[in-house]
Amino acid sequence: MCGIIGYIGNREAQPLLIEGLKKLEYRGYDSAGIGVIPTGKQHIAVQKTEGKIIDLISVLEKHPLASGCIGLSHTRWATHGVPNHRNAHPHFDCSKKFLIVHNGIIENYEALKAKLVAQKHVFRSDTDTEVIAHLIEDCYSGDLLEAVRKAVKLLRGAFALGVISSYQPDQIIAVRTGSPLIIGVGQHENFIASDVPAVLDSTNRVIYLEDGHMARLTRDRVEVFSFEGERVSPAVHKVAFNIEAVQKQGYAHFMLKEIHEQPDVIERMLKFRLKGMAVGLDGLTILPEHFKRVKHIYIVACGTAYHAGLVGRYWIEALTTIPVTVDMASEFRYRNPIIDKNTLVIAISQSGETADTLAAVKEARARGAKLISICNVVGSSLARESDGVLYTHAGPEIGVASTKAYVAQICMLYLLGLKLSQSFKKISTKQRQQYIKELKRVPGLYRDILHRKKVIHRIARKNSHFGCFLFLGRNINFPSALEGALKLKEISYIPAEGYPAGEMKHGPIALIDEYRAVICVAPQTSLYEKMISNIQEIRARKGKVIAIATEGDLSIKKHAHDVITVPPLEENLTPLLVALPLQLLAYYIAVHLGCNVDQPRNLAKSVTVE
Ligand code: F6R
Repeated sequence: MCGIIGYIGNREAQPLLIEGLKKLEYRGYDSAGIGVIPTGKQHIAVQKTEGKIIDLISVLEKHPLASGCIGLSHTRWATHGVPNHRNAHPHFDCSKKFLIVHNGIIENYEALKAKLVAQKHVFRSDTDTEVIAHLIEDCYSGDLLEAVRKAVKLLRGAFALGVISSYQPDQIIAVRTGSPLIIGVGQHENFIASDVPAVLDSTNRVIYLEDGHMARLTRDRVEVFSFEGERVSPAVHKVAFNIEAVQKQGYAHFMLKEIHEQPDVIERMLKFRLKGMAVGLDGLTILPEHFKRVKHIYIVACGTAYHAGLVGRYWIEALTTIPVTVDMASEFRYRNPIIDKNTLVIAISQSGETADTLAAVKEARARGAKLISICNVVGSSLARESDGVLYTHAGPEIGVASTKAYVAQICMLYLLGLKLSQSFKKISTKQRQQYIKELKRVPGLYRDILHRKKVIHRIARKNSHFGCFLFLGRNINFPSALEGALKLKEISYIPAEGYPAGEMKHGPIALIDEYRAVICVAPQTSLYEKMISNIQEIRARKGKVIAIATEGDLSIKKHAHDVITVPPLEENLTPLLVALPLQLLAYYIAVHLGCNVDQPRNLAKSVTVE
């Protein structure tokens, strides 16, 4: 939700800011803006526009900013105030001496704004953000860091901020609480950014600013302080991935690239996590004997990560006998869940910054639960909140629709289930080894499916005219149906619903006619025949059936109009396998319909507001 970047150094700020901002566009694309302090001048030059970064570039071509080596830039996902020029960041105070960019929400902005208006401050936007600029203007008496410190103490909510002032054009002030912010540490230059990819062209050394910390960046120095003004010494990390990881590398879209990366993601995880036939989960700081005291597990997550949690429940319950409840984080936090010190919470999040997931885990921890998180982004807020972190190391996911992160999350949940099964002795060592052997086959099977992706492409094109899709699955593949439907609707805007196949006759069957298509996730599992009965019920009502089935299944061809096959695999692992054709189907339909698959409307990659 909103991307911010700031630069101070010896180079021209504008091109660096625009290039960096492009890497943050996945965070929002409602409007974009930039502000630079022209060298030797006493003012701040700003350009902004409704729309995407490409629109900002067109504005800058017509109205270039004067040359300067310090500046801020922003790409917006609108919260307060419609997405237009007036509400685009950066925002000024009254005197236009202070300029700010913000990611997050100021919850008490209405009260603050009323006070500021009463003091004759003039507002130029409808945003919550603008109050911060006016507060800094009020608090300034010669030291920008001190003015920002005083101002942020008046704010309630989540915010990552970048602030510059033409009074002190030799520094950027950065603030973080509740929204991510990193500092890129360079040679005679420094950056702030919402995410690491924005600075990777220039440096791979980063500081992950902590909540409640702020920093002053000059060309040659980064100083970090607490909101109380105490100096802190943050660690400087070397980033493990390089700039190629955040480029399309010849693929038409990031989503397609990330789908193709999946076999490598799984292979890498297995190589790292499996020591022979034993599961090693470094980062799982809770000892196996402690798990024996666990009476209940809650899995909390949002969106795709929630679907991963639903798959994980089947495995963890089967492998441990501990009851597992899976909750959407946005609901969990308000429903007064029963939690005590014998409760384990597993939070799943690609970004580790999802506001609802963070709020849910804070609530659970306050009630005494232990917390393990499954997270992709290293150093994220969720990771820092957790007792133990299992990083998926899937690499940066730029496409707004989650693909490789989902597959990595379910793979990690399977490994976690297997690891816990060692303490619970629910399955024999031989059985566990058999599961691990099957798991190791998955990357190769993914490559097989990717080699045959043309078939999926053809089926997608053929069926892309349907105005509504129903996705059905049973048991462990019910979450696969939910995830398939989510992928399709979010990138193609076609209404799509995921349902357990057995529930169809309790309502959704009313949708079925010759104008709707039903995707049936029907690999060879113990419930295969029941799925076939459901397919027949659909056919009897003239519904169009597209089945995801196991290779060599001859009978499905008699029942379905189109069949996409996946190789045979142990039943438990089928959600891992069917995820791939479901992603490709959604991708090809959306591309065929001309949709912007990497930046679907109204969405943002990292949902840092409630
Ligand atoms: C869908 C998608 C979202 C995210 C959700 C949670 O493709 O990407 O539903 O899964 O917003 O995000 P994280 O995993 O970052 O907490």
